Amino acid sequence: TGKVTLDTGFVNTASCTSAITYIDGEAGILRYRGYPIDQLAERSSFLEVAYLLIYGELPSEAELGDFVDRIKEHTLLREEMRRFFDGFPRDAHPMAVLSSGVSALSTFYQDSLDPFDTAQVEISTVRLLAKLPTIAAHSYKNSIGHPTLYPDNSLSYVENFLRMTFGLPTTPYEVDPVHARVLDMLFVLHADHEQNCSTSTVRLVGSSQANLFASVSAGVNALFGPLHGGANEAVLTMLGRIQESGGDVSAFVRTVKDRTAGTRLMGFGHRVYRNYDPRATIVKQAAREVIDRMERPDPLLDIALQLEEIALSDEYFVERKLYPNVDFYTGLIYKAMGFPTRMFTVLFALGRLPGWIAQWREMMADPATKIGRPRQVYTGAGARDYRAIDKR
Ligand code: CMC
Repeated sequence: TGKVTLDTGFVNTASCTSAITYIDGEAGILRYRGYPIDQLAERSSFLEVAYLLIYGELPSEAELGDFVDRIKEHTLLREEMRRFFDGFPRDAHPMAVLSSGVSALSTFYQDSLDPFDTAQVEISTVRLLAKLPTIAAHSYKNSIGHPTLYPDNSLSYVENFLRMTFGLPTTPYEVDPVHARVLDMLFVLHADHEQNCSTSTVRLVGSSQANLFASVSAGVNALFGPLHGGANEAVLTMLGRIQESGGDVSAFVRTVKDRTAGTRLMGFGHRVYRNYDPRATIVKQAAREVIDRMERPDPLLDIALQLEEIALSDEYFVERKLYPNVDFYTGLIYKAMGFPTRMFTVLFALGRLPGWIAQWREMMADPATKIGRPRQVYTGAGARDYRAIDKR
């Protein structure tokens, strides 16, 4: 008991110490294990960054090779698990299928659920990294009624995912190398972001000593919401609506500022960044690169660019320090690659997975960890006596 401090939305409360990711929101700085995000985006690769986040250091060539091999060994899903997807309705949201799929991993790998057994945590880590792209691609194939493809381990992590998503069993699939490179880079940009909503969820669930699959499945559900990972989907819906209503960007900005409709400028604003999100700068360049090489460039890019320009010079957004965040331009890239809007948040989840795993492992290894159990400020009725139902 004692005095508790109210901090709705954890605006001022640190829930843990962490040595993984550093953010300076005022300066727009993001580093993983000390390495600036722009260097990692340009020079590293997703699995190398996953290794860095989880094990703390960049791998040597041999360490990375071994890590990649171990992941490739586990890309298949059990056949029972593949059938499990058939039970979902065709129009199920792939995020709901993804979280269910991750949760179901606890039923298939019951021999490796002990959060304090190093070997078990290690194999669960590898299984999650290996199987998430397979589950994600299956959820997509299920939604369009196409047969699922087995993983092809001769391909890279991202190439294999693209093939399982867009390939057909009967036709050879050629991965677009630009798409593979950009998607890998986007996964790097999403790989961790310290104590965001989904990562805090993974930690909170894990703090009860729930297993890694259960904790990550909870993280996927937290990511689903439009104020978090679901924002990339919401941005595209918003841009589409502006286009349908004649492309009047200023009118849309007025609706946002008016606030009576409760409309937010999706892909703008961030709890921690009070400056341009460093990830958004990189994503914007990539969006131009991918969209410019399309035969018919997407007109939604123009709408997004106009929207950004108008917002950045508008008092409402300037005063509140609202800048584009990582989700503002990612959807346009995913769309250009052929992903339907409903898959966008799944792509965020694939990218964020190493961060969830690294944070969960860091917490489990920390002897100072306690079960997460926030307090509250009670505002309900005072003590009163029970009355029989006929007396109410
Ligand atoms: N459009 C219009 N007004 C906004 C927006 C926005 N996108 N974001 C914040 N504001 C206003 C808000 O109304 C408030 O104004 P006032 O002080 O006059 O009431 C002020 O700015 C501060 O906003 P807040 O809601 O207190 O800020 P927060 O830190 O609680 O919320 C946020 C952060 C990301 C949830 C919010 O900015 C938002 O809803 N953005 C749109 C959704 C989005 O893009 N989410 C993705 C976040 S980045 C990646 C990720 O986590 O997935």
